[in-house]
Formats: sequence, structure tokens, C-alpha cells
Amino acid sequence: MSEIKQLAYALGAQIEGITISETLSDVQTAFIRKIWHEHHVILFREQKAKPNEIIEFASNFGELDDHASTPFYRLENFPQLMEITTRRVNGRPSETRNVGRNWHSDYSYTQRPAAASMLFCVEPAPVGGDTMFCNMVKSYETLSKPMQKIVDELHSVYDISLTAGLFQRDLKEVEETRKLNPPIAHPTVRVHPESGKKALYVSERVSHFHGMTSEESKPLIDYLCYHATRPENVYRHVWRAGDLLCWDNRTTMHMALTDFDLTQSRHMLRATLRGEQSGFIVDD
Ligand code: SIN
Repeated sequence: MSEIKQLAYALGAQIEGITISETLSDVQTAFIRKIWHEHHVILFREQKAKPNEIIEFASNFGELDDHASTPFYRLENFPQLMEITTRRVNGRPSETRNVGRNWHSDYSYTQRPAAASMLFCVEPAPVGGDTMFCNMVKSYETLSKPMQKIVDELHSVYDISLTAGLFQRDLKEVEETRKLNPPIAHPTVRVHPESGKKALYVSERVSHFHGMTSEESKPLIDYLCYHATRPENVYRHVWRAGDLLCWDNRTTMHMALTDFDLTQSRHMLRATLRGEQSGFIVDD
């Protein structure tokens, strides 16, 4: 018997009574989907799962990304998992040690941005290293009608170069990753394909609105990010080993906080579900 517990006012629910390393029944899968659409972020606690079991669980909910857009971040032998870690990898500082440090939605700088992500905590930071999430459906719904009308018409241009900390990584790999991911425009308001709800799609990785200058766009990008991340619209997750946290990238943004000692181990594995094609390459 599964039970749910709301995690915050704006979004987030913990689901109890599910073991992610076991095969899910159709009833369990449908139940999880329903709760996920209602709460946008779902949490399973005290899980034990090997990489292949995380992949198996994630594949119940959609097509798995092989992380070809960020090939240097893959877990060895498991391209369906991204290793997000402060531990050294192959004797070098990890390229993912500072992933996710500004508000974003995963793979928004690709033509087919992520529908959802599932992050398994192998080892949390000794203290801190939390992740914050905000609800982009509420962000849209709480804009005034005239502002909704303005954003309904816009396309946000996503630029991977605006990923916080990108240029602190291996510069040769960064250049290759930038070449793989040229700036992409997506509708600033997207309709969720399953719930039919409208959600704001903007982040700190948006350089401008398509057809507008950066100077014209910046005040509006800043306002929309400020509006979306008001404290009452945010859930802050404090990680424990064995947490599997799943978020819908079409209805949330998130940010990994750097409020911990980066010389300590924080080790996570992420499966990413592919979304629908919604972007086009731009050159303005
Ligand atoms: C991410 O942005 O996917 C990483 C989140 C985290 O490490 O908490």
C-alpha cells in the first residue's frame, strides 16, 4: 500500500511503500504518474539501487536519454546515467563537480529538452549540498493576465554558455559540448503534454527572447526568474543517502546549492527522460 506526504506548499510529495529496485505493477506505475503530475517533484526515501536498477525503474516512465549532449558526464559503462559528483573521476577533478548551480530545467539548451530527471543520492554532502525546486505552473498562473499575454507570444533562447561554472571545467571539453549545443529557442510558455497545464519556460540560462535584443530581454528574464523563485514557490530538498528524487522538467526549475565543502564527497546518479521536440536553432 503506497502513501503520500506533501513536502512543501508549492510542490513536492514523498511516496512511501514503493521499492524502486523491484518490478513495478501497472497500478503502481499509474499511481506514481498521477502523484508526479499533481506535485511535480516526487521523493522515494531509503532506497537501495544499483545503476541497472535505477535505469530499469526510470524506463517505466519514458524514453531514457543517453546523455549524448553532455558526453563527458556519463557514468562509465552506463550512458543512461549521468554521474554528478565531487569525487575525482579517472584521476582528474570531476567535470560535474559544479553541475546545476543556477536555476534551470535540464537539457533546455537542446532541441529535445528533458521531460523529467531522476536523481539518486549515493552519498550526500556531510552538511549542505541541498537542491531547490520551483513550480513553473504556479509561476505562470500567478502572473497578471496582461503579462501572461506577453509571455505567451515569446520564445526563450537558451545558451549553454550561461550554465554557472561551465568555464571552470576542462576547456577543451567545454568547447566540444558548446559545439554540440548551439543556442536554441523554445516557447516561453509550454503546455504539458499529459496534464494540459501551461507552465512558464524560462531560466537563468536564457540569453534573450527570440527577435528581441539582450538589452530589451534582460529586465523581463530577471523579473520572471525572480517571480518563479519566490520562497513560497520553492521546495528545498535536504539529501539523505538512498533518496531518489524525480522532477518534471516541463513544470519545474531547479538549482543545486553550493552550500557545502566541495573537497568532501557528494555523489549522485541521474537518469534523464527525453521530452518532445520543442526547440529550433537560432542565430540572432
Ligand atoms: C542537476 O542539475 O541535475 C543536478 C542537481 C543536483 O546535483 O542536486
